Amino acid sequence: MGTKMNILVTGGAGYIGSVTTVALLKAGHEVTVYDSLVKGHRAAVPEGAQFVQADVGDRAALDEVLGGRQFDAIVHFAASIEAGESMQQPGRYFRNNTCNSLVLIEAAAAHSVGRFVLSSTAAVYAGKDSPLSEDDRLEPANVYGQTKLMIEQGLDWYRRIHGLHYAALRYFNACGAAPGRGEAHSPETHLIPLTLQVALGQREDIKVFGTDYPTPDGTCIRDYIHVEDLATAHVLAVDALGERDALTYNLGNGAGFSVKEVVQVAREVTGHSIPAVDSDRRPGDAPILVASSERISHELGWNPKFPELRTIVESAWKWHSTHPRGYDTWSAPPPA
Ligand SMILES: NC(=O)c1ccc[n+]([C@@H]2O[C@H](COP(=O)([O-])OP(=O)(O)OC[C@H]3O[C@@H](n4cnc5c(N)ncnc54)[C@H](O)[C@@H]3O)[C@@H](O)[C@H]2O)c1
Repeated sequence: MGTKMNILVTGGAGYIGSVTTVALLKAGHEVTVYDSLVKGHRAAVPEGAQFVQADVGDRAALDEVLGGRQFDAIVHFAASIEAGESMQQPGRYFRNNTCNSLVLIEAAAAHSVGRFVLSSTAAVYAGKDSPLSEDDRLEPANVYGQTKLMIEQGLDWYRRIHGLHYAALRYFNACGAAPGRGEAHSPETHLIPLTLQVALGQREDIKVFGTDYPTPDGTCIRDYIHVEDLATAHVLAVDALGERDALTYNLGNGAGFSVKEVVQVAREVTGHSIPAVDSDRRPGDAPILVASSERISHELGWNPKFPELRTIVESAWKWHSTHPRGYDTWSAPPPA
């Protein structure tokens, strides 16, 4: 284990941020979660972490926290996360993701925080090759991906000018649950929780968008990476930034699963028939998006511990079946 650090986790009341906070605490670090609760849940913040309710765009609040004691690292999850919505409300995404992140990065530089880890995304890629490596062409197909790419690029200037060490971690589809912590997005748009909501009687069926793609069963193939594997990668990245000043890694499973495969495994795990309705393709969906995570595997020794689709769905089902309304403060949307 590396040195004990004092770490600020923005968005730590959200899905991936809360599970990563648990992993950072387990690794012996001190953690302050900084979250406005615009989407997150107070109940998701692990015991043992400090909690500050404030917005990442609030420089005065950041100065108070970062000025109160020396932080060694910031792990930045807080963001608006829906690619579809980003095409309806681009301004909201540029403001919350790009502008607010720049406020945070400036505050990090002003308070001499040496390490910064960014939640980036597979949406930065043009998405033509499979598996995608970090050197593939960057050409976001939506505003969400563009906002993340802009922050990655901004971070590199802060590295050059201020010596800020950063890691950009490009996640593919985060999934699964940790004990007592799982997905509770509102609205939910991710395939596994939506499918499990059918098994819970919260929606009638699951829509399969496009069944004529050039894939073995005609449905889109995506890379699903377990949230606890993502959390481990953040712990490794924070440590590695002691030596290295710029890290860019894909975080994926390397194995893609089709929409039909996910629904079938969900049927097996839940024992529910989960009706699926074939629907038209959605514009902008690539047939296959699968990550090569060889770089982080080779450089930091990270490898997914939960690559099996069944294990992923079982862990998600454990969470959703015991928390059908998510965290106490959250009510699921009515059946579609
Ligand atoms: N879920 C995925 O599959 C996925 C894939 C790729 C990248 N990501 C990225 O990972 C990160 C976490 O995603 P998630 O699924 O855990 O989302 P989430 O919505 O569960 O968590 C985001 C958290 O950030 C907080 N937040 C948002 N804007 C804020 C602001 N301005 N100030 C303070 N807090 C704010 C929310 O309250 C929420 O708790 C995001 O940056 C997202 O873009 C997620």
